[in-house]
Amino acid sequence: MQNNNLSVVVLISGNGSNLQALLDFSSAGNYRISGVISNKSDAYGLQRAEQSNIPTTVVEHRRYANRDLFDKALSEAIDAYEPGLIVLAGFMRILSAKFIKRYNGKILNIHPSLLPNYPGTNTHQRVLDAGEKLHGVSVHFVTEELDGGPVIAQKSIAIESIDDADTLALRIQDKEHLLYPAVVSWFAHGRLQLEANDAFLDEQLLPETGQRILIS
Ligand code: GRF
Repeated sequence: MQNNNLSVVVLISGNGSNLQALLDFSSAGNYRISGVISNKSDAYGLQRAEQSNIPTTVVEHRRYANRDLFDKALSEAIDAYEPGLIVLAGFMRILSAKFIKRYNGKILNIHPSLLPNYPGTNTHQRVLDAGEKLHGVSVHFVTEELDGGPVIAQKSIAIESIDDADTLALRIQDKEHLLYPAVVSWFAHGRLQLEANDAFLDEQLLPETGQRILIS
């Protein structure tokens, strides 16, 4: 059945639990996932897509001599799905500046920290090591700065004395699965824009920490 919902391509490298949340919410969210692309052929998320009858493409980075050639192949795979939005959901490759320019304002990422704090990897342990009281998750527009694009929305959690990196990972993922579909749905409703290096929701400039979203 053809519909006019926004076409979304999801890029993954692994488990795909965020992909699953996006799939589960898509009928309510005014978007449809038209394809899933992985840089790893054994990513479990590919099976999740297939179970939902979503077409998949594997573009294995190790088959390409350099980042430019990989990004070119990735672009071709993406364009075949004619998306209005590209959603990075645990996609573990750094994208070139050329790639990001090409899809400017149309790439989202989810990152397990309260950006701009703790960009990069291993965020849960770094937050614990620093003795933080608060942790969280951010959805942001992707720009050329790694984990540095303007934040759209965040959800925070209080760190408990019994938390370790594993419990934080689970607690953060629970929030991710609510936050990401909500933000993709905003985009699908035309409520989100990237202009220069600023994010706008309903034509209002978002603060550095994005919109605080009221989900429990
Ligand atoms: C998520 O925790 C996300 O924040 C990070 O990668 C993880 C992907 O998990 N970018 P999944 O593959 O969606 O389960």
